[in-house]
Amino acid sequence: MSKTFYITTPIYYVNAHPHIGHTYTTIVCDMMARRHRMLGDDTCFLTGTDEHGQKIERAAQAAGKTPQQFTDEISAEFRALWDRMGLTYDDFIRTTSERHKQGVQALWRKLRDNGYIYKGTYTGQYCVSDELYVDAVGPGAPCPDCGRPTETVHEENYYFKLSAFQDQLIRLYTEQPDFIRPETRRNEVLSFVRSGLRDLSISRSTFTWGIPVPDDPKHVVYVWLDALANYITALGYGSADASKFDKYWPADVHMIGKEIVRFHCVYWPAFLLAAGLPLPKGITAHGWLLFEESKMSKSRGNVVRAGSIIDVLGSDALRYFLLREVVFGQDGSFSFDALVQRYNSDLANGLGNLASRTLTMITRYFKGEVPYPSNAAHTPADAAIVDSAKKAIADFATLFDQFQFSRALETAWALVAAVDKYIVENEPWALDEKKDEESRGRLATVLYTSAEALRIVTALAYPVMPDATARIWSQMGLGDITKFDLAELHWGQLPLGTRLSEVQAVFPRADKSAVERMQKMEEQTAIVGAEASPSPSSEVRQPASVPAGPIAPAKLAVPTPKPAATPPDGKISIDDFAKVELRVAQVKSAERVKGADKLLRLEVDLGTEVRQLVAGIAEAYAPEALIGRKVVIVANLAPRKLRGLESNGMIVAASPEGGKPVLAGFLEDVPVGTRLK
Ligand code: ME8
Ligand code: MG
Repeated sequence: MSKTFYITTPIYYVNAHPHIGHTYTTIVCDMMARRHRMLGDDTCFLTGTDEHGQKIERAAQAAGKTPQQFTDEISAEFRALWDRMGLTYDDFIRTTSERHKQGVQALWRKLRDNGYIYKGTYTGQYCVSDELYVDAVGPGAPCPDCGRPTETVHEENYYFKLSAFQDQLIRLYTEQPDFIRPETRRNEVLSFVRSGLRDLSISRSTFTWGIPVPDDPKHVVYVWLDALANYITALGYGSADASKFDKYWPADVHMIGKEIVRFHCVYWPAFLLAAGLPLPKGITAHGWLLFEESKMSKSRGNVVRAGSIIDVLGSDALRYFLLREVVFGQDGSFSFDALVQRYNSDLANGLGNLASRTLTMITRYFKGEVPYPSNAAHTPADAAIVDSAKKAIADFATLFDQFQFSRALETAWALVAAVDKYIVENEPWALDEKKDEESRGRLATVLYTSAEALRIVTALAYPVMPDATARIWSQMGLGDITKFDLAELHWGQLPLGTRLSEVQAVFPRADKSAVERMQKMEEQTAIVGAEASPSPSSEVRQPASVPAGPIAPAKLAVPTPKPAATPPDGKISIDDFAKVELRVAQVKSAERVKGADKLLRLEVDLGTEVRQLVAGIAEAYAPEALIGRKVVIVANLAPRKLRGLESNGMIVAASPEGGKPVLAGFLEDVPVGTRLK
């Protein structure tokens, strides 16, 4: 029977748009989930959004929306970003969902029936931003945690007997030192708990945006009890179907940022102990991404969003950078310069170059078939590569399991560097020129050794860079990398005679303008985000505001056929489809349309002519990101006027429910003007 592996991210507050801090945690979990799946573990990766509480209620109010409308929009934005990045979460839990509410109420009843909830009155200071009662005295006193002014609250509340768990918690941290990682966080928690635990207020009655307390609906459940419960409600805790809960709980890893350690390492285990439920195996806190020297956060406004980076360098580049550059557990600085530098040195010149030179030489010298190494021509240099590869496989696993991701990548890249040097020293191109049999044998050995090392680095790097490694893998003729069993990664298993597919560069070098382009896009997003705040995606979803859409959901590319021509089953004939002229076009210029947040004016090259098009994609794409991009357009659409500008055609995009439009494109390069049929 396979092992199970259950990993979770925090559920993110929906009071602001996602930035790369949230992306970081989610990427780390995605990477761990991918590695476990590749090792054959039955994996469950959970993420979601935290949507109740006063903070959210106020943010919605400020935006002139109902809390439900507001949370629907921002939650969809998180989800759309994770989808766009190809993150492989198995479930996305929203705290406003019915299944979650039921689970939270079931947990409440359990805590109550077990005797851990009582009613009392509270007067004191509450920090709305942290959603936490704090030790501060007097109206407006600053929150000791975040410095923001606190509010005085006087209410009758339900309390949780947290104090009853002090000794059990101390024992837990002591007997199970891996319960909290890293060690520094464990020590902080230990001293916090040793200094004494007071009972915790777990209901609020001064606002209503929350889950009603069972049998006393004047109260809503405290947001942190509500939020923490997501880790079990998503598995069906409190519902009729407990199969997932039985299978995956307890979680293997709760991944969090260091600012929410207390909630996860003190409150959460106490709630679980009180409910008589098993505890998670471990809670891992990482550090903060800093930008311009301070914590990247929505309240500071110093955020970088993932979108600009993905558009310019791709999602793998962001993943690699965050895992390689930031020492996991510590704070790490983000900068566009460092990102581009890492990209060029480790990806374009590193792995990318190794892949393209090795595979190109096999294509050229051995007609694209992995050659048989010659035993006679085996040298100490070959043996050194074999050793380095074996070491990479072993060390990568050990370091990875210790959450030392940057060091794990270092060992794999040490192999990349070793093979590069090996190629330079063994000069395959010179061996190819001498046509004698011995040189030919040596050439086969050198290229086999290089390709086998490449295969090993590629398999190890897959969880970190799923797209690029999948492409290298398939160029090597090895098929679908997600089907590869990582437990079977050993030296010497690259099948001899494997036929390579067409070799293509996976990491084109980034030039100087990359930094500028990303920064520009950030500035634009910041402006657009502020204008449309807090929901840039809201209008995209309302058909009324984009009539019949310059954004075409894929199905809209087919014009509405005349009722008579429509067969009863709603299908169309091939002739109907042939009426739609879909063509590949390349964006030559793009700019915003004044006074229209959603619209871009584009000039696209169709091979035979350049046309003006107006498209409702401004909230999904910055204009600069589109230049040079190949898109699909409906070329024979009757012209229409939008904001006084004539649009000659329509750009084709997928329009996910509640998400931003995603332009259709091609993995292979296609000449401008090509017709789609
Ligand atoms: O705290 N660097 O939600 P949140 C690294 N809803 N990680 C960062 C980061 C940064 N600068 N900024 C955010 C909440 N994060 C609660 C959680 S869980 C039951 C409830 C990441 O929207 C990091 O994982 O404030 C951090 O813990 C989380 O986002 C906080 O997200
Ligand atoms: Mg926060």
